[in-house]
Amino acid sequence: MLELLPPPPTDPLWDLTYEFGTDERPERLNLVLGVYRDPAGSTPVMAAVRAAEIRLAERSESKEYRGLSGNAAFNRALLGMVLGPGGPGGPADRAAAVQTVAGSGALRLLADLVCRTRPGTTVWISDPAYVNHRPILEAAGLTVRTYAWRDAAGGFDAAGALRDLAGAGREDVVLLQGCCHNPTGADPARQDWEALAGLAGRAGWVPFVDLAYHGLGDGLEADLWATRMLAERVPEMLIAVSCSKNFGLYSDRTGCAIVLGASARAVRHAETALQNAARTLYSMPPEHGAAVVTTVLEDAGLRALWRTELDLMRDRIGANRAELTACLTARGHGDLAATLARQKGMFSMLPLSAPGMLALRRRFAIYGTTSGRINIAGIPEDRIPCLARGIAGVLEQPSPPTQRLAPRPRIG
Ligand SMILES: Cc1ncc(COP(=O)(O)O)c(C=O)c1O
Repeated sequence: MLELLPPPPTDPLWDLTYEFGTDERPERLNLVLGVYRDPAGSTPVMAAVRAAEIRLAERSESKEYRGLSGNAAFNRALLGMVLGPGGPGGPADRAAAVQTVAGSGALRLLADLVCRTRPGTTVWISDPAYVNHRPILEAAGLTVRTYAWRDAAGGFDAAGALRDLAGAGREDVVLLQGCCHNPTGADPARQDWEALAGLAGRAGWVPFVDLAYHGLGDGLEADLWATRMLAERVPEMLIAVSCSKNFGLYSDRTGCAIVLGASARAVRHAETALQNAARTLYSMPPEHGAAVVTTVLEDAGLRALWRTELDLMRDRIGANRAELTACLTARGHGDLAATLARQKGMFSMLPLSAPGMLALRRRFAIYGTTSGRINIAGIPEDRIPCLARGIAGVLEQPSPPTQRLAPRPRIG
């Protein structure tokens, strides 16, 4: 049977990561994947997470199955974190959360929910979008269209997004990244978010918010502002939440899918549909990361420690961005520096084409994605001048690559 399988496409980000692993130049710099690295270049376990893990190891008594929605206390804690304290009658009162296999699992379960509700629904994603948005939505059976996101100067293209989304109707869903847009780093200003909420209200499309970097842009509350504002304004909304970045739980695959509905009945049905989707995909999500997050969020001391650590990560990303822009300015690239300085979160997009990014890899051993994205949070402090030198070098002399590294081997 397997002999019949034609060579499938491989994942471009993991291909680059593989290529990085085979690069023997000591100065090589991996800015491909979206992981936070400390000044020494490692991705540490957060102290609040470590303390919660120790507590859990000492106290947990059973690994019995959880329910189909996963860890109920985790779901409550994430609903509270995402939608805010609110009051009676607020968005949290008409919402349900189901624990998922990280943010990707939440995106997939919510896409399944949309497909079960109305097969073939059109979901609008930004152009450019997170590399896995289209594949996840299409794999669930949805139709994907795109709307403008980035203007020529590298900022959020409010006019373009509103123009394109004027074509979205009441049967459509619009996927919006709640903060720290991946891959551009360009976020809407508050008045742009208000305009998007107004459009959703008038046209009747359902916002589907992807939250993967809250806490790493302007701070946790500020990064959740747009999501909370939308939740107050629209009758229905879907939210995919990842704990991978802001709790550093990348490999523990921790997240949740949130639905907001206009009636208790609709929310109950949506929650059951999410459970059914999970049941046929993987049955139940893994417990460990959810137990860790719950332990952190329910304990005032651990929660405060986590917030301090999250703020430190955000400050370091900001410091890296500031240092990179200073180095680029010193090299005579003030316009690019000004663009990068306005962007938020882990990523920035360089004004380099695929050949330019290839030249950056070949000539300077600096690995970003082919589309021009680099992970600002992944640069060791002492390497920022080298990064600026490489970017300036390619901008000033975009020469073709001379030598190829070995492609990733295939089995068989
Ligand atoms: C915008 C966005 N959404 C969702 C995810 C999925 O994150 P995870 O499945 O690792 O929680 C990512 C990961 O990089 C992302 O950048």
